[in-house]
Amino acid sequence: MTITPVESIMATNPEHARLPVDPEFHYGAAFANGQYCDITKATVPLLDLGFNQADAAYDVVSVSKGYFFRLEDHLDRFDSACEKFLLTNPYSRQETIDILSELVRLSGTREAYVWWAVTRGLLRDSTRRTDPASYDHAFYAYAVPYKFISNDEQRARGIDVYVSKRYIRIPSKAVDPTAKNFHWMDLKLSLFEAGAAGKEWSVLCDQDGYLTEAPGTNLFIVKNGQVFTPGTGCLEGITRKSALELSRELGYPTWAAKVHVEQLYDADEAFMTSTAGGIMPINTADGHVLGGADGPGAITTRLHNLYWEKRWAGWHGTPVNYQRQRTA
Ligand SMILES: Cc1ncc(COP(=O)(O)O)c(C=O)c1O
Repeated sequence: MTITPVESIMATNPEHARLPVDPEFHYGAAFANGQYCDITKATVPLLDLGFNQADAAYDVVSVSKGYFFRLEDHLDRFDSACEKFLLTNPYSRQETIDILSELVRLSGTREAYVWWAVTRGLLRDSTRRTDPASYDHAFYAYAVPYKFISNDEQRARGIDVYVSKRYIRIPSKAVDPTAKNFHWMDLKLSLFEAGAAGKEWSVLCDQDGYLTEAPGTNLFIVKNGQVFTPGTGCLEGITRKSALELSRELGYPTWAAKVHVEQLYDADEAFMTSTAGGIMPINTADGHVLGGADGPGAITTRLHNLYWEKRWAGWHGTPVNYQRQRTA
């Protein structure tokens, strides 16, 4: 079995094609400051604390063939992130769904990447910083055509990752990684470190050498037919959840537990998961060729292909409402 070239299928099969779109929304549609607009024109006030203090919760859901994937799971995770960060979404769940749906409709996308955030917004009275109620929380969202963070070629051959020597993932007691947040500097700088080492992706451990996650992705290893993912220190990814479900469906035992970096080097297979890329095989980790042979492993390949096969058949799908809903 080989890795299905899903990116090229999406680009060529009419079932995935973009709908007619107003040229204004060619690059995508945004919702900011209570208005829908061209994404290239959307602005954030400089005093919004989401912008200048990374004080926000966010989430990203994908759309394929005109269906949101696991929308309720993403909304639940977002609500929980807001609760953990003492943020209040100014919009109800239904209003949030309507805005996300309207953004997809405006951008004419049937394959979309849909992002939204609630920021701390503006502080009304600078002497009342200790009171969470003294901030006007703000909501932003956008929908753009779906872009893979790893392309067909990378997924077909497997990605060469670099385990950061310089950075650890920000500890959970500093910023809770289960609440999706804007603290990306450790992830970002580790990517540049990996690039300088000639690798295409980075992996971050905790201070004791246990795997946490990677920039924009969760991590998995496969050993002796069993599937392992770090249980703590990472975002509880929705694609991770899907990969765990699919593994069980295929009869592979799964574990969400501590995974040491040495277990990655010694793994039969490994892969990353993300809304922005699905299931992404790892080929080497710090030069260790996983499973002793180049290319994605058999279990990773099955999971990769099943993930897209099921999604395209409507698995956990919520249809986007392509009828005009509201104007802000
Ligand atoms: C830090 C981090 N970990 C993991 C993930 C994967 O999560 P999901 O599968 O929900 O996209 C993301 C997604 O952006 C992320 O930012």
